[in-house]
Amino acid sequence: MAVFPFDIHATDGAARTGTLQTARGDIQTPAFMPVGTAATVKGVYMEQVRQTGADVILGNTYHLMLRPGAERLARLGGLHHFCGWGGPMLTDSGGFQVWSLSKLRKMSEQGVEFRSHIDGSRHMLSPERSMEIQADLLGADICMQFDECTAYPSTHEQARTSMELSLRWGERSLERFGDRPDQTLFAIVQGSTFEDLRIESAARSVSLGGYGGYAIGGLAVGEGHEAMCRVLDFTCPALPTDRPRYLMGVGKPIDIVEAVYRGVDMFDCVIPTRSGRHGQVWADTGPYNIRKAEFAEDDTPLDATVNCPASQTYSKAYVHHLIRSQEMLGQMILSWHNIAYFQDLMARMRRAIHASELDAFVTEFRRGLT
Ligand code: GUN
Repeated sequence: MAVFPFDIHATDGAARTGTLQTARGDIQTPAFMPVGTAATVKGVYMEQVRQTGADVILGNTYHLMLRPGAERLARLGGLHHFCGWGGPMLTDSGGFQVWSLSKLRKMSEQGVEFRSHIDGSRHMLSPERSMEIQADLLGADICMQFDECTAYPSTHEQARTSMELSLRWGERSLERFGDRPDQTLFAIVQGSTFEDLRIESAARSVSLGGYGGYAIGGLAVGEGHEAMCRVLDFTCPALPTDRPRYLMGVGKPIDIVEAVYRGVDMFDCVIPTRSGRHGQVWADTGPYNIRKAEFAEDDTPLDATVNCPASQTYSKAYVHHLIRSQEMLGQMILSWHNIAYFQDLMARMRRAIHASELDAFVTEFRRGLT
């Protein structure tokens, strides 16, 4: 199977900046992937997503298999053609979304049976079916192994049992994925907050051979920021230095900054678009809500420092008015700005790593939070 070239251009402490070359284009790392769950980055045109500097977006097996259906998407030419995103696309394998969204589920060694959260219809996902959907039907460039996200908190024994299942599902994922010139498969390391399990999960995933990258799963599930940082402190060094590392579902800018500092290369999170729909504006000082009365007559731009038309063109007073009036454009402008802010943050960190100034950047970032 393809293991995409990953050139690390510079390192600074544990942090790295590089380029992951996929058949559909390069991904500059550290990278933030906007989430396009249902073949749309909610409220933002693909062209705008691209203009913010995003190289890659994320799609979800779980949502797309339920609606519009994986076979239908394949008949329509695959996910890229369907949604108009020509660049690289990463898809999550589905298990995590079954775990977090579908109420009725039955787990077995084979996989997971569940009922759709949309209409209650019955479905099943297994490593084999997840690979078929991601790689054959959707046509993702980067596919994720089928895994079980270990619940938090878990005992050591529960976390081991779950980690072992993910390792067996990883082996079956690799087997079904097979040899593909233009697509790659990432492992997902589990093990909850236990150092020995994380290290073992990483080592055994590596020894399976053939993975193009390594994700860290099972975080941002309630353990909190400090515990997440501690897990990264011992998990990142256990991963191969020459392969991309992807922290799944993370996070707030401070989580991302601390993770880059510890050696993570890729991220995805719904925060920019979800919080945009709720009137939240992201900035280095933290998020604030544009609905607040203090913005009613504030004619300054949303954020003149972010290189994005949404951030520089529209005034806080205008977006305040749109959000208060429940005009959909308000949510669209904020989602667009927030994605641009996250991309801008990644670009600033890439530059800081190149300049060996990440320490100063991280110190300043922590200090600037209000
Ligand atoms: N997204 C966030 N966390 C996880 C995880 O542990 N597994 C998968 N597949 N997706 C995730």
